[in-house]
Amino acid sequence: MNQDRILTGITTTGTPHLGNYVGAIRPAVAASKRTDIQSFYFLADYHALIKCHDPQEIHRSTLEIAASWIALGLDTDNAIFYRQSDIPEIPELTWLLSCMTAKGLMNRAHAYKAAVQDNEAAGEDADFGLTMGLFSYPVLMAADILMFNAGQIPVGRDQVQHVEMARDIAQRFNHHYGEHFVLPEAVVDDHVAVLQGLDGRKMSKSYGNTIPLFLGERQLQKHINKIRTNLLEPGQPKDPDSSAVFQIWRAFANNEQTEAMRAEFANGIAWGEAKKRLFELVNAELAPARQRYEELMSSPQYVETVLQAGALRARQHSQPFIEKLRRVVGISPLG
Ligand code: TRP
Repeated sequence: MNQDRILTGITTTGTPHLGNYVGAIRPAVAASKRTDIQSFYFLADYHALIKCHDPQEIHRSTLEIAASWIALGLDTDNAIFYRQSDIPEIPELTWLLSCMTAKGLMNRAHAYKAAVQDNEAAGEDADFGLTMGLFSYPVLMAADILMFNAGQIPVGRDQVQHVEMARDIAQRFNHHYGEHFVLPEAVVDDHVAVLQGLDGRKMSKSYGNTIPLFLGERQLQKHINKIRTNLLEPGQPKDPDSSAVFQIWRAFANNEQTEAMRAEFANGIAWGEAKKRLFELVNAELAPARQRYEELMSSPQYVETVLQAGALRARQHSQPFIEKLRRVVGISPLG
């Protein structure tokens, strides 16, 4: 049951970049159009509060991410696209699940353990600077997933443990109260490219090495020019597989274009020329969406109506389900 229901969340911090596009947004947009599966995509703004305490950034990032996904063609009539905080049943379910979650399970979460280790290494108290939000993060994520009984959860490698925890929590709940939850599985797509950033490390907001998705043309060109390269001169053969320029090229090119560029590298294409062509390729793919993005950014009310319509559809699932779950745990009207 519901094995072909897919769901994933996007934490609303930061500005979407090319790495997010290739790794998450582009595949999700494609999946949103499929009629053989039911997909749920949501803005995880409660999750954002765990790592960001700047209200303006949360608010702005929520709009930027929603506008990006819509501009890139997310099919919001077919897929259900909503904002986590518009679904009050999610925090309610978080509590029901918290009461079925072993504290020891949460102690093993990578993100929490890493924070504790950093503190210990720095000679601080183990819990220095740690919030209950960070500690309970996997329970909120379990509620996101279990609320809609989604079977498949497309995520990056760093999130696999959280999906496994959701599965553990669901199992424990099911064992005690009966089979109410589908056991979710993480889906990690190894074919999806993980882009290198300007400095050659994985493109990531935390490394400050990203190329934002909807830069204006000149800015996009400038960022691409900043991609680190080696000192090989024009005419000297270059290794495509260790080059961020080639990696990004490949993520936007078809097979034929990829092989052609590989040959150009072997023939010693100049870095400046390779970057110029990369700009043209990326820009051609993004330009139409950039126009729509700018329109959406200047009509936040419109974006809001899209989210409200999504929330309405999401709540058609979550409202009856939470009512049932409340009864299941013994919370219901007396007599
Ligand atoms: N924690 C995820 C991330 O940082 C975002 C997220 C929140 C999520 N809830 C989710 C992903 C539920 C999948 C399913 O990337």
